[in-house]
Order: sequence, then structure tokens, then C-alpha cells
Amino acid sequence: MSSEEKSKKLSALKEKMVADENLPLREANFVFGEGSAESEVMFIGEAPGFFEDKLQRPFVGRAGKLLGRLLADIGWRRENVYISNIVKRRPPGNRDPLPEELEAYRPYLTEEIGILNPKIIAPLGRYSMNYILPNAKISDAHGKVFWWGERLVIPLYHPAAALRSTGVLQELEKDFQKLKILPGKYETFLAERREKQRNNPMVSQDKKEQEKLL
Ligand code: URA
Repeated sequence: MSSEEKSKKLSALKEKMVADENLPLREANFVFGEGSAESEVMFIGEAPGFFEDKLQRPFVGRAGKLLGRLLADIGWRRENVYISNIVKRRPPGNRDPLPEELEAYRPYLTEEIGILNPKIIAPLGRYSMNYILPNAKISDAHGKVFWWGERLVIPLYHPAAALRSTGVLQELEKDFQKLKILPGKYETFLAERREKQRNNPMVSQDKKEQEKLL
């Protein structure tokens, strides 16, 4: 799909979500994903906070500023990646999203990912990580690289957690160094994986094998 087509489809998805009266948290503003429709990398956060709600843009508060700094540190520009959230409206008082809220927004996130078709997904924090890896623990899975279909997934700590802990910030900075090299490795990893699957269609996709990627 061309990037124009992707942009059109993303706009249509946004309109569909805005019109969906069954989606929870309708008292808050709607905050859709933003960035380059051509991006190979998609970041997925949890839900908009205070500033995101005000400006109707994802990751524009303190956590967003840190995300911008981490991107700059690895030589990437925010406008060249794609940044979204699972839940597209702010939970009152920035509370954690409820299971039923995550459930309601989940199919739309699946559509958003399908349209963007990123090679690499970086979930920020446990909520978006658990959308992809339901049983993973962020303290264990962060910075490891997993296959999800033919997409690479690298769970990262949420930047808000890094603002509260220097230890977490250091881990996040390290994990960004790993993220930096993934786009360049993607085709090689995929070719190796397809080759392995050709030789052994039952090839396990267990965690150990996935973690050996890097
Ligand atoms: N935290 C999130 O998870 N998403 C945002 O957009 C901002 C803060």
C-alpha cells in the first residue's frame, strides 16, 4: 500500500473511532496515532494523559518529551516514526485503563497496525506489551526481541516509568540502542527465519529462539 493510501485509511479509521459511541471514555478528547505513514517502526503507549488530551496528540507531555529525547539520542526524528496508544481517550485522573476499556479499543489498534504494517513494534509499557505478549512481564521482556507474525516486537519500559526511576531510565536508554539497529537487521532476520521454517515447518517460535535474535 502506498503511503497516501495508508494515510487515507488511517484517517478513515480515525473517523470511524470518533463516531463509535460504544467506545468508553467519550467524555475525554480523542487522541489518534500520529507520525509517518511510511514508518517501519510503530510505538504504542497506554492512553493519553493531561497534555495529550488538551492538545489531542499522543506523547506531548513529560513522557513524550523524554520519548523525543530518546529518539534524538539514536538519531531518529519523531516525525519519521509512528506513535500511538491502545486507548485513545484519557482515563479520568490518568488512572490505569480498565480491562474493559482495553478490550473495547483493542480491535481498533489491530486495524491501525494492519494499515501501517510496521516491521517493528515497540510497545511502551506493560499494557501495550500485553496486547501482543499477554503473559510477558515488562521487567523481564524489555529490550528483548520477539517475532509476532512477521513483525519484530521490542517491548520497552514506559517513559513515564523512566521519569520516576533512574534505573529504569538507564535500561530504557540501553534498549533504545538495540531498537536503533533493528530496522537494519530486519530483512536478514526475516530471511533466516523463513529459511528455518522451510527446513522445519514445525520450528518452534518459543521465547528462547526469539531472544537469540539479538
Ligand atoms: N502516556 C501514554 O501512554 N501515552 C501518551 O500519549 C502519553 C503518555
